Amino acid sequence: MTSLPKNNEEAVSKQIRMSPLSALKGFKDLLPEEARQIQWLEGKTHELFETFGFSPIRTPILEIASLFNRGIGEATDIIEKEMYTFEDWDGGKISLRPEGTASVVRAYIEHHLSYAPIAKFYYMGPMFRHERPQAGRLRQFHQIGAEIMGDPNPRQDVELLSLSYHFFRKLDVNDITLEINSLGCPQCRPVYRLALMNDLQAKISRLCEVCQRRYQSNPLRILDCKKPACKERTRTAPRSIDHLCPECQRHFKEVQEGLACLEIPHTLNPHLVRGLDYYTKTAFEITNNRLGSQNAVAAGGRYDGLVETLGGPSTPAVGFAIGIERLMQLIDPTQIPKPSLPLYIAPLGKAAGQFLLSLTFTLRKNGLACEMGNEAGNLKNQMKQADRLGAGHVLIVGESELAKRCAILRNMTTKMQEEIPFAKLSELLLSRLQH
Ligand code: HAM
Repeated sequence: MTSLPKNNEEAVSKQIRMSPLSALKGFKDLLPEEARQIQWLEGKTHELFETFGFSPIRTPILEIASLFNRGIGEATDIIEKEMYTFEDWDGGKISLRPEGTASVVRAYIEHHLSYAPIAKFYYMGPMFRHERPQAGRLRQFHQIGAEIMGDPNPRQDVELLSLSYHFFRKLDVNDITLEINSLGCPQCRPVYRLALMNDLQAKISRLCEVCQRRYQSNPLRILDCKKPACKERTRTAPRSIDHLCPECQRHFKEVQEGLACLEIPHTLNPHLVRGLDYYTKTAFEITNNRLGSQNAVAAGGRYDGLVETLGGPSTPAVGFAIGIERLMQLIDPTQIPKPSLPLYIAPLGKAAGQFLLSLTFTLRKNGLACEMGNEAGNLKNQMKQADRLGAGHVLIVGESELAKRCAILRNMTTKMQEEIPFAKLSELLLSRLQH
C-alpha cells in the first residue's frame, strides 16, 4: 500500500474533519415548521387522552435489551434485525426502544402501579427500528400510544378503538379504515397455528424465502407477507376467527357489538396479524390509502399475557400506538394555527437600541410576543425583516423620536402610522396587541 505524503495526509484528514455532516439515514431533523405542527398535535393529544381518562407516562428511551427480546418475541423482525442494541460501558446489553408497550409494562410492574383496578396510560416519543428507510418508514419515528391495564372486559378494547377513531375525526382525518381481527389466546391459538401450518405445508416451496423461514418460527406472520405471490397463496388459508375458543369468540363478538353501538365503522380482516408477538384476542390496524405502501397509521390490540411474561402478576391489557409522522401526512396543515408576531421593534442607532431593549423585555415579560431588530441596521432592512416575520405592527424609534420622547407605531396591514408618547408605550402596546 502506498502512503500519502505527510502534507497530503494532513490535508485529507483536515478535509474530512471540516466537511459538513448530515443526519443518519432514516433519522430526520424536525425543522421549526414541522416541529411546531407536531407540538400542536401533542397539545391535541393531551386534551383528548385526558378527556378519555388516561394519565401521562414517560419511560426511558434506553432499556435493557432483554426487555424487548422477552416482550416482543424472538421470532419477530424487530428482534431479529431491527433493534439498535449495543454494549453499555459495564458490558450489559442495552437497546433503544423500538416501541413503547414493553417499557410501559416494565414501569407498571416496577412501580407496583396495579394498585388501582385499572390503569390507563398515554405517552408520546421517539422509537427506533433499523428498517430500510422509505417514504413513511423511518429509523427514528415518533408514536402516540395508549395502554389500559387490569381489565379483561371487551369494553376496554372498544374504548381504545373509540378513542383512536375520535382522535382521527377531531383532526379532520376522515378517510381511514379500521380493520379488526381476533388472534385467540394461548388455549386456541395453537390449534389455529397447526391448522395454518397444515394448510401451508403443500405450498411452502412456492412461498418466498422469508415465509419459508417463518413457517416453523412464526407461521402466522406468513399471512402478513406483502409479496403478491405469497398473498395469493395464503388467500384461502384458514382464519383464526374460525378456531377461537368460546371465551375468545364471546370477547370478539362483544368488541364488534360495542363498535356497532358507537357507530364506529370497521371491517373484519381475518388475515390481520401483527409484527409483535404479545397480542392475544383483539388485534387491529387503522390504515389510509393516501400513505402508499406504508399505509398503517395506527395499530394495536389486546396483550393479556405480557405483564406476566415480563415478571408481573397476571394482568389483562390492551393498547395501541399511532405513528406521528404518518399521521402528520394526513392532517390538513391549514387547520394548524401559524405563529403570529404582533410586534416588530425597530431601533435606529445605539441609544434607541438601549431604550428599546428594556421595552422589549417588559413587553415579553408581560406576555406580548415581539422581536427586536439590530440597531445598526437601517430602517429599510428592518422593515424587510418585519415583513418576512409577518409582523402585524412595527415600532420605530430613532434619534428624532428619542428627542421628542415619542415612538412611531406602524400598522403593517393598513400602513397607517401614529405617534405614541414614551410614557404610555408599554401600557398601550400591551392593551392593544396582546390577544
Ligand atoms: P406497531 O404496529 O409496530 O405497534 O407501530 C404502531 C404504528 O407506528 C404503526 O402503525 C406506524 O404508524 C408507526 N410506525 C411503526 N414503524 C414505523 C417506522 N419505521 N416509521 C414510521 N412509523 C412507524 C406498536 O408499536 C405497538 N407497541 C402498539 C401497541 C400499543 N400495541 C399495544 N399497545
